[in-house]
Amino acid sequence: MCSSSNLEQRTAWTRERLSEALGESAVRLIATIAKHAHAEKVAIYLAGGVVRDLVLERENLDLDFVLEGDAIAFACKLARLYGGETERHIPFGTAKWKLNSATINNLSVGSGAIPAQIDFATARTEAYPAPAALPAVEPGLIAQDLLRRDFTVNALALRIEAGSCPWDMLDPSGGYNDILGKEIRVLHDRSFIDDPTRIFRAFRFASRFGFSIESSTADMMREAIPVIQRLSGERIRHELDLILREEYPERIISNLSALGIFAQIHDSFRTSVRSAEQFKRLREDMPQMCGSSDDIARVGWLLLFSDIAEDDALLICARLDLPRGLSNAIAGFARLMAKVDWLGAPGTKASAITRFLDGISATAWRAGLICNIDIHSVKERMELYMEVWRHRQPTINGNDLIRAGLRPGPIYREILDKLRSAWIDGEIESEDQERELFLKLVNEAE
Ligand code: CTP
Repeated sequence: MCSSSNLEQRTAWTRERLSEALGESAVRLIATIAKHAHAEKVAIYLAGGVVRDLVLERENLDLDFVLEGDAIAFACKLARLYGGETERHIPFGTAKWKLNSATINNLSVGSGAIPAQIDFATARTEAYPAPAALPAVEPGLIAQDLLRRDFTVNALALRIEAGSCPWDMLDPSGGYNDILGKEIRVLHDRSFIDDPTRIFRAFRFASRFGFSIESSTADMMREAIPVIQRLSGERIRHELDLILREEYPERIISNLSALGIFAQIHDSFRTSVRSAEQFKRLREDMPQMCGSSDDIARVGWLLLFSDIAEDDALLICARLDLPRGLSNAIAGFARLMAKVDWLGAPGTKASAITRFLDGISATAWRAGLICNIDIHSVKERMELYMEVWRHRQPTINGNDLIRAGLRPGPIYREILDKLRSAWIDGEIESEDQERELFLKLVNEAE
């Protein structure tokens, strides 16, 4: 049961409190949207993650609105009035309103943070025609919309009234108390069977918020694990991608792995026992090297494959319908991992290492470095490759070859490669020595 002070907190979403949590500009934006909904006589709610995060006092400007009315028409109307683009998804009755700088000016909500895009959805009921299939949807009421959702903690909504505050919180499934009790709980027995992506989501939210998975929810989850096989590659890929963008992906990966979930995706999909330390290293060492969170998530994708040989990795990439660039990076990484002994062996020439690493992507050698940082010779050579060897080029170029009277053909590339290798291996150290070697190679070629 919730205490009276919880109830008070649950309903007292005053303007001041919202402004403190979301910022004044975002609250003005919400009020402007509410004014238009009111004029259209449509009930409008903020729902899902943003409301959960208000209760948790976590920053979140991901505004998801639910309307008991036509959300697509409403978003289009806002775009006509204020500018910006809409992206419509007719089968689900949803629309994304993308704001541009003119829209932000037209809205006159001040200079504080507001989201770059806002989601609108028509309140709906869902029916799942088969396990793991996409649902058939029908327009419905907000309570139905909340009760079709994944977890109680996400089944909360704030009713936004034009011009008046506080805004009431709707909580038909006890989500508020589950947030206070730090528990992830499904709303009905078939939730994971209907939509096994919720298995991934449960671990993602549990890890992010430090929640546990309520015990009967955990039982239902275990029963639904085989249904993961029926999910499309695209849907699993999306879930894994979201996991790799969390702060501690390794915790989620280890929980999924312990339940045999990777094996349900593909027989050969197994994560490394070292993945915890690898992800920790990625988080700590790589931001300077990689830069954006997209780059870090990309390296994270490769780390998921650190114990998998190239042939199997490619089968898993196909199962997950990964884009070609990412599959190629994963294949390159698998080749690198298979050559670690060779990379660290005393007799392996710097030029051979350079040729090999030139043939795989930067993402692959970044992941390779993370996984082999403890092997001194490999680490040293990979760092030399990144900092020095890969930038080495001969000063002699194609024009010098033409001037030397050589007929154009594959011999050009061969000579330039030999000159580059000689620089990388320290066999030549000056332009005079390079020219001497060049003349020798030209003579041999003639
Ligand atoms: N949802 C669901 N089942 C899913 C995916 C989503 O019921 N398989 C519902 C949840 O209620 C969720 C809402 O749709 O709150 C919006 O989905 P999403 O944006 O993925 O969830 P958020 O809770 O906003 O997640 P995040 O904080 O990671 O953005």
